[in-house]
Amino acid sequence: MTDLFSKFDPLIQQRETLLATGVTDPYNLVMEKVISPTVAICNGRETILLGTYNYMGMTFDEDVIAAGKDALDKFGSGTTGSRVLNGTYQGHKECEEALKEFYAMDHAMVFSTGYQANLGIISTIAGKGDYVILDIDSHASIYDGCKMGDAEIVAFRHNDVDALEKRLKRLPADAGKLVVLEGVYSMLGDVAPLKEMIRVSKEASAMVLVDEAHSMGFIGENGRGVAEAQGVLDDVDFVIGTFSKSVGTVGGFCVSNHPKFEIMRLVCRPYVFTASLPPSVVATAATSIRKLMHGSNKRAHLWENSKVLHKGLRDLGFQLGTDEPQSAIIAVIMPDLEQGAMMWEALLEEGLYVNLARPPATPAGMTLLRCSLCAEHSIEQVGEILGRFERAGKRVGIIG
Ligand SMILES: Cc1ncc(COP(=O)(O)O)c(C=O)c1O
Repeated sequence: MTDLFSKFDPLIQQRETLLATGVTDPYNLVMEKVISPTVAICNGRETILLGTYNYMGMTFDEDVIAAGKDALDKFGSGTTGSRVLNGTYQGHKECEEALKEFYAMDHAMVFSTGYQANLGIISTIAGKGDYVILDIDSHASIYDGCKMGDAEIVAFRHNDVDALEKRLKRLPADAGKLVVLEGVYSMLGDVAPLKEMIRVSKEASAMVLVDEAHSMGFIGENGRGVAEAQGVLDDVDFVIGTFSKSVGTVGGFCVSNHPKFEIMRLVCRPYVFTASLPPSVVATAATSIRKLMHGSNKRAHLWENSKVLHKGLRDLGFQLGTDEPQSAIIAVIMPDLEQGAMMWEALLEEGLYVNLARPPATPAGMTLLRCSLCAEHSIEQVGEILGRFERAGKRVGIIG
């Protein structure tokens, strides 16, 4: 018998070698208690959270929690069904209404996760004979959506408008084309030049999908994302997003003005063949989305936090993923996986949680400590975070 697990041997070996150095497993952390959007108890210690993507800090919002409790009481713990059978409750429709209002778009479709939203929309609209043109650093859910849909995949260099244009020009003029972009790329926290990319896509008669997972709620005047900030939201055919970041719960969605969009509810397999979100979840999502429409003060504070942390880390001598802060993600580049894991652990011992990211999830084989700020981090907490980075960085020898 061929052991089907033998393909994982190199990864098992790499993991064992890392753990043999005595470092704590960075992928096995338990949050023993969560006190607020920015503080939890980990390993018995009060820890500042700087790696949760809880950008707008909605997880402990009083109205959001009240809406979830109320729906739990009134509708029970789960729907036990697909959206197209017994799994569409009033709350799912209210959530879709909130999304339509939030984006000022005609259609909204709620999925059980953002992963499934990408999987479903991309695989359903781009099939055999069509082309998906995507940034090489796209999220796994985008790649998986392409694989499932059977379209021809054409990747272009990260955030490179000329490369996108060249690829588009080589494709048959009358073929179906979907350009897939992200507003913010989550590894380095850099923003896409959507305005130029959408212009060249439209010149090539391609449809455009933008995943605004890391920008919704925060970037743009109304928090609609990078496409709004760059004034091109009207040219985007499909916006994909998630409830697991700024919205502060779980779920995914697609919004669109396409006149035939509603047919997706019958043909999109990751929408049809899975159970819908529990009533309490859609109630928290709808409440949170409506509150995010009026979140401009929080957005301003989050930008401030992002700028202060970026400057502080750079002044301490850390190498960062972007020259300027472009989003609420600040990536600190580590020399290698071993030192990255040591630094991650040293930070945890200081009482600071960040994400350790490594290849293949990261671009160019980098090991990163990804920091994601929250609108609920106080400026004092950001100062504290910088102090903890300085102490840990000196201890591990990342900075002098
Ligand atoms: C760009 C992007 N798209 C989609 C997703 C998937 O979102 P979800 O957590 O809701 O499945 C993520 C999650 O990390 C993401 O970063």
